[in-house]
Amino acid sequence: MNDVLVRAKGLRREFGNGQRPVVAVADATFEICAGDRIALVGPSGSGKTSLLHIIAALDQPSAGVIEWPALGRAEDLRPGPVALAFQGPSLLPPLTVAENVALPALLAGTAEATAAAAAQALIEQLGLAEVASKLPEEISGGQAQRAGMARALMGEPRLILADEPTGQLDRAAAAGLMDVLFRHVEAAGTALVVATHDQAMADRLPLRWTMTERILQTGTSCTL
Ligand SMILES: Nc1ncnc2c1ncn2[C@@H]1O[C@H](COP(=O)(O)OP(=O)(O)OP(=O)(O)O)[C@@H](O)[C@H]1O
Ligand SMILES: [Mg+2]
Repeated sequence: MNDVLVRAKGLRREFGNGQRPVVAVADATFEICAGDRIALVGPSGSGKTSLLHIIAALDQPSAGVIEWPALGRAEDLRPGPVALAFQGPSLLPPLTVAENVALPALLAGTAEATAAAAAQALIEQLGLAEVASKLPEEISGGQAQRAGMARALMGEPRLILADEPTGQLDRAAAAGLMDVLFRHVEAAGTALVVATHDQAMADRLPLRWTMTERILQTGTSCTL
């Protein structure tokens, strides 16, 4: 039997409390199991980022229930069993790229030298060696995006949520990032949910969830 990492029923997220709130997610019911690889697709503004943030416990639903049966309490998910590679800028400005990438391991109590070595390996795999000692403001958007992915891979999470991880990359850099990402998740059995408009990325993920009119269509749930 597969471990259920996330179980959600009837999730809804509205923004604003005036007369006309924006409904970002109208209804999402799903399970994510250990090792699931899911492409989350849907038009711009359809609620993908909003949903990922609720799954990561960065945000709370306006209605509905979400739990993380095999992962623990919401407050213990990050850094820890869940990692999120954000759609937008997310590196901490005062830290170098290498320090940003090492941070999840340091927060988890890994020795500094061990964390630095693991961060360096990911930095090299993602083609960031030249900018490892630079600050976030000194690097390109695509480099920052790859650094965000390196940081997500760092803490050996059980679930990685990646929000448009190739959105700012050219085709070669996107292919490189995908190779690194899939090598890691396949080796570790990590579950993966990727919000993406990138067909090449979606093609590499066996499950497809679609946001349609802000309602999540999953088709498949955990393998029985
Ligand atoms: N903090 C917020 N306050 C108000 N409205 C928001 C907020 N965040 C998102 N929204 C709205 O919720 C809806 C869904 O946004 P979301 O970012 O989840 O879409 P998305 O599917 O990730 O889009 P994209 O493909 O462009 O990244 C949009 O109408 C957006 O304007
Ligand atoms: Mg988004």
